[in-house]
Amino acid sequence: MSQYPPISEQLDDLETARDEGRRKMDWARQHMPILNALREEFERDQPFAGQRIGMAMHVEAKTANLVELLADGGAEVAITGCNPLSTHDDVSAALDTHENITSYAKRGVDDDEYYEAIESVIDIEPTVTVDDGMDMVAAIHEDYPELIDSIVGGAEETTTGVHRLRAMDDDGALDYPVFAVNDTPMKRLFDNVHGTGESSLATIAMTTNLSYAGKNVVVAGYGDCGRGVAKKASGQNADVIVTEVEPRRALEAHMEGYDVMPMSEAAEVGDVFLTVTGNRDVITAEHFEKMKDGVLLANAGHFDIEVDLDALSDMAADRYEARDGVEAYEMDDGRRLNVLAEGRLVNLASPIALGHPVEVMDQSFGVQAVCVRELVENGDAYDAGVHEVPDELDREVAEIKLAAEGVDYDSLTDAQTEYMGSWQHGT
Ligand code: NAI
Repeated sequence: MSQYPPISEQLDDLETARDEGRRKMDWARQHMPILNALREEFERDQPFAGQRIGMAMHVEAKTANLVELLADGGAEVAITGCNPLSTHDDVSAALDTHENITSYAKRGVDDDEYYEAIESVIDIEPTVTVDDGMDMVAAIHEDYPELIDSIVGGAEETTTGVHRLRAMDDDGALDYPVFAVNDTPMKRLFDNVHGTGESSLATIAMTTNLSYAGKNVVVAGYGDCGRGVAKKASGQNADVIVTEVEPRRALEAHMEGYDVMPMSEAAEVGDVFLTVTGNRDVITAEHFEKMKDGVLLANAGHFDIEVDLDALSDMAADRYEARDGVEAYEMDDGRRLNVLAEGRLVNLASPIALGHPVEVMDQSFGVQAVCVRELVENGDAYDAGVHEVPDELDREVAEIKLAAEGVDYDSLTDAQTEYMGSWQHGT
């Protein structure tokens, strides 16, 4: 049993925190029509009665609405953060007041506390796991394999988590089914593209009080997140430079009109650098040596390993906090390289960060919620391993959203359906 305490036992002014957390959740909830529609269904049907859900996610207002939805649908839920810097303590405290929810998430925990909190969540002996980055699945497999038999399945939120799960699956080491929520159209085409694009750029601008107009913004990685960042930086009058390692992605960025070049060249001309590769060592010592004075270095990939801060620290003659959330590394030659949010995902870990816009998280969490329902109702149908989310679930979430937006759309006629399913119609 972990001794790590819930947030309510860790805060001094608990009542104020709870009120403020609730206020943030209420605001988000007003803009989450998908979760609200599912809430009606779940409160009525209680699909999660008897289930224990263990979660490791970014604990802020939007996530909190997902957590409450699952609890109001009958589940007992325990949650902690999936990043040491992304928790909003007030929201965590507000969640912890719910009789079916225990929240261990706290901002600014060290490595030991981070993993102890995960163990505390695992203490509820989850029957379902919901992860962002796979740390919960990993901890269960490594340290609590005896729990696996009673777990019906899990759901994974982000690209890096899905990559890790697939690697685990390839090694034959993943012992229960997990849905790749990240990979659904309703998640990645909105959350990764628009959410990461908008919230990362907004957070960098707000953290630094600087503009993109006329600047060279270097986007490392032209996947779903990189596409969004590049497009929205371009929309704010930046000159966008893309670095890539995958030839078709590099070509796509080139055809989109961006400058594509190796990081070794981009390092010399960039003003703002944003890594979104999900890989490690993307910006390293050889690049720091070439950078201009005053550059901004930020990461929006899941882990804080895209910018090599150990190397930067070794190279720096001095380092100091230039602003809240901005650490200046001063070189011998006087150049200052400014790192945001300690190289952690800037849109969630910067002191003023709010994460993605509410609307996109409504979609991502709508998919999470129907995936948990599917696991509870039909978990036996899925073998151990990574599974694509059934398309009808993703469509269900899209339909709820379109109805909420008052957007009508066409349906196939019978003749069209027959035509699309046939190979016999030619010229
Ligand atoms: P993706 O797999 O679609 O794209 C990553 C791209 O980076 C690929 O095109 C790959 O070729 C490229 N890449 C890999 N190594 C590289 C290198 N050394 N230099 C240049 N390019 C390189 O992944 P996606 O969905 O764009 O996610 C990227 C990261 O962002 C993941 O870690 C994911 O978990 C995270 N993420 C963060 C969010 C946030 O709120 N900050 C939201 C969603 C995802």
